[in-house]
Amino acid sequence: MTEAFSAVEVISAKRDKYSLTDPQIDWIVDAYTRGAVADEQMSALLMAILLNGMEPREISRWTDAMIKSGKRMEWSALDRKTVDKHSTGGVGDKITLPLAPLVAACGGAVPQLSGRGLGHTGGTLDKMESIPGWRASLSNEEMLKVLKDCGAVICAAGADLAPADKKLYALRDVTATVQAIPLIASSIMSKKIAEGTSALVLDVKTGSGAFMSDPKKAAELARVMVELGVRAGVKTRALVTAMDVPLGLTAGNALEVRESVEVLAGGGPSDVVELTLILAREMLDTAGIKPLMDPADALKNGAAMDSWKAMVRAQGGDPDAKLPTAKQSTQVFATSAGTMTSMDAMKVGVSAWRLGAGRSRQGETVQAGAGIEIHAKPGDAVTAGQAIYTLHTDESPRFARALEALENSFEVGTIGAKVDRLPLIIEKIEG
Ligand code: URA
Repeated sequence: MTEAFSAVEVISAKRDKYSLTDPQIDWIVDAYTRGAVADEQMSALLMAILLNGMEPREISRWTDAMIKSGKRMEWSALDRKTVDKHSTGGVGDKITLPLAPLVAACGGAVPQLSGRGLGHTGGTLDKMESIPGWRASLSNEEMLKVLKDCGAVICAAGADLAPADKKLYALRDVTATVQAIPLIASSIMSKKIAEGTSALVLDVKTGSGAFMSDPKKAAELARVMVELGVRAGVKTRALVTAMDVPLGLTAGNALEVRESVEVLAGGGPSDVVELTLILAREMLDTAGIKPLMDPADALKNGAAMDSWKAMVRAQGGDPDAKLPTAKQSTQVFATSAGTMTSMDAMKVGVSAWRLGAGRSRQGETVQAGAGIEIHAKPGDAVTAGQAIYTLHTDESPRFARALEALENSFEVGTIGAKVDRLPLIIEKIEG
């Protein structure tokens, strides 16, 4: 096959700070996906993009080219409006678990195609897979059936959903090119647009435990993603939210499922409940859905729990089964009394990862029971000798490195000392 361009020509254009043309972008994304452009050539282009950026037209075209590398799903057979949420990921971010069934209970259809975790933030599928029997891989027909019957489905994205992104993401991971806003935005939005949702709320995390620790950069990423969604005809909004402190009181797969079920039962930690309700209302509003009931009522009256149980059962899971627990545990204690003033989400995330809750290579298995329970958060009064964390793992040799990660992970000041925290919602960006 004669190629329309040479990769060297495209790489040198971006190296020399020119904008890539639409045909150049269409060609390079397609040629890389079918193997006609080598990894080393795409690596050079990715680095040039990281260093020299892309203008909005280029990002939008790049996103379209990634969507066109696979199939776009569609849900016209449903009698409800579709709406989804995407989080850029954070420590203890289990919000998808209570949120998807909650929005379903309020009248939305939530087609949540998720991934597995890599690094210090957990993946939604890893969490759901700690439920005995639950199956992540569904055919398109099964997905539609679960969505129709339960109003929400959480499952693995199929191989034909933006396959260019799968290849590009793996390459970015090993070439230090993950952190480029055009590449992050196009990666996330190509999958969300290809997923076929008609409305989308983005939860862009910022703070130490997020992948964009600087709030200004997080807001910029949010704006680029909202623009991509709107250009593609998806009603899109973004919230920039705090990830300086872990969300809730658990980080780890089964531990986070347990906490999510507490929220669905009308309890759970206040920050998880608050963010779940804010995102649920935002999703319903963005999609233009008149809620069947207020989301807070759906948590209290069991409607969201009923949707959760139906959704879990529809994918082979037993929502009433005992969740797995780890074989070993140890604790970390406060050494002085006072008010906790800070807790570093990144350190807690790395520690949970080292305990076996996350993976360091694609394809590695994770431990369902591994992770951390947090017994005090910033603002809480603590006493000397009080347990702050309980660490869980199946393999006790993992404790040493996990404890090392937690060194200086929280501070205790005098009683009533000022707490240094980001507000939960930092900014809202509308399309
Ligand atoms: N999540 C994605 O799907 N892609 C990125 O580039 C970063 C986070």
